[in-house]
Amino acid sequence: MSSDRRKFLKQLGGTIALTSATLSSFAAMEEHEYRILQAEKRYSANDKVRIATIGLGIMGYNDTRTALACPGVELVGCCDLYTGRLDHAKEVFGAHIFTTKDYHEILDRNDVDAVIIATSDNWHSTIAKAAMRKGKAVYSEKPMVHYISEGLDEIKTQQETKAVFQVGSQRVSSLAFKKAKELYQSGAIGQINSIEASFNRQSALGAWQYTIPLDASPQTVDWNRYTAKDQKKLPYDSNRFFRWRNYREYGTGVAGDLFVHLLSGIHFITDSKGPDKIFAIGGTYYWKDGRNVPDVMSAVIEYPHTKEHPAFQAILRVNFISGEGDHSSTKIIGSEGVLDLSDEGGGFTIRKNKMPVAPGIDGWDSFGTYTTAMQKALMDDYNKKYSAADQQIPNIPGTTYHTPAGYDANIDHFNSFFDGIRLGKPIVEDAVFGFRAAAPALACNDSYFQNKVIHWDAEHMRLG
Ligand SMILES: NC(=O)c1ccc[n+]([C@@H]2O[C@H](COP(=O)([O-])OP(=O)(O)OC[C@H]3O[C@@H](n4cnc5c(N)ncnc54)[C@H](O)[C@@H]3O)[C@@H](O)[C@H]2O)c1
Repeated sequence: MSSDRRKFLKQLGGTIALTSATLSSFAAMEEHEYRILQAEKRYSANDKVRIATIGLGIMGYNDTRTALACPGVELVGCCDLYTGRLDHAKEVFGAHIFTTKDYHEILDRNDVDAVIIATSDNWHSTIAKAAMRKGKAVYSEKPMVHYISEGLDEIKTQQETKAVFQVGSQRVSSLAFKKAKELYQSGAIGQINSIEASFNRQSALGAWQYTIPLDASPQTVDWNRYTAKDQKKLPYDSNRFFRWRNYREYGTGVAGDLFVHLLSGIHFITDSKGPDKIFAIGGTYYWKDGRNVPDVMSAVIEYPHTKEHPAFQAILRVNFISGEGDHSSTKIIGSEGVLDLSDEGGGFTIRKNKMPVAPGIDGWDSFGTYTTAMQKALMDDYNKKYSAADQQIPNIPGTTYHTPAGYDANIDHFNSFFDGIRLGKPIVEDAVFGFRAAAPALACNDSYFQNKVIHWDAEHMRLG
């Protein structure tokens, strides 16, 4: 493709289209061109990025497959603590793949350029820091940290090592979120004042009761390594290993697991550094299976006025026993419209509602309680003051956008990671972004468990 053509595509990418017809045709064209660009990429053996995955469960397999779908990527090895998942790695990726239960053996290899860290949350930060110190690029699953106290040290490690580092909330790379951000910033919904965002689920798997293999035991699971950092040593427990999300000791509850996606999307669209006040309530209302984290949680979060945005508030909710069925959404509400992002960044709708110039009279109003003579005088006065046009509610068409069929934001997210490694391109969800999304999410847990409002200094990334 000629450089003129590339320039043209780049210019197209910066255009803002406001009507639904233009937007959908523009987006479809852009996506088409984007895919041509991706497919055209060819890498020599020297340009290959050699990866290894640490933590090869559901997301580890997903991330590895996605990374391998990007051009010029090769898998060298895998690390996991359960034998069956390592054996399966050889079935899926080939018998030549190096496998181990000790992540240090992956980090010590010179033929590994980058690692995907998709372990349970309790190991993200420890392994990420060790990997960066060993000169590896790091793709760390969300949330970046298990505890807020780990964040600044991880950022410092990234800054000292200059490692390419990306956190895995893929929605920030989604075409839908990029388009939504353009329209939001063009003033499509007026001035933002609030956000309502939620994940609703209604299934045992959705509530994290994942299948446990029949051979689960201390012989197949490296329980010692899994619990190596724990202050209180517990005996082997298959639930705590295969359903770790249900326990604070290894996971971060619905807040760290799911609020963090919502906050990543919100921060990406609004360019926010984060809130300053966080309060959460929750409870284990239905899934009484021994878990020590809530299955329904709501948070009220306040974003102060900054140079990036006016003051607004966000209400986040996760409901694992929702009669609404499986559904997630993020509604960004402004003074003149609402931006409604549907499930997992598959698209959005903008509905516009603008107040008429005239304030209105009659209807649900004190007008009808006055004498007939007074009503007539008031109406004459009103009609003199406001033209028919002023009295009309403006009818402004909205916009709907869907990502093209088969579109996968994960691929874009990994491509941006590999572009960071090969071309030094900036990473959207870098350590600072990742921590600024993770910390307020984790503060929801602190608020719930400590029953208090948490104050957060988003600029300096410190608890207040
Ligand atoms: N970005 C997304 O949309 C998304 C979706 C799902 C999960 N995730 C994240 O991915 C991570 C993994 O989630 P999952 O559902 O795949 O969990 P999982 O239980 O299926 O897999 C986790 C694996 O990590 C391994 N592990 C734990 N500690 C380890 C260590 N010290 N060394 C090596 N391996 C270790 C375990 O053996 C296990 O197989 C979580 O942090 C989760 O938040 C992200």
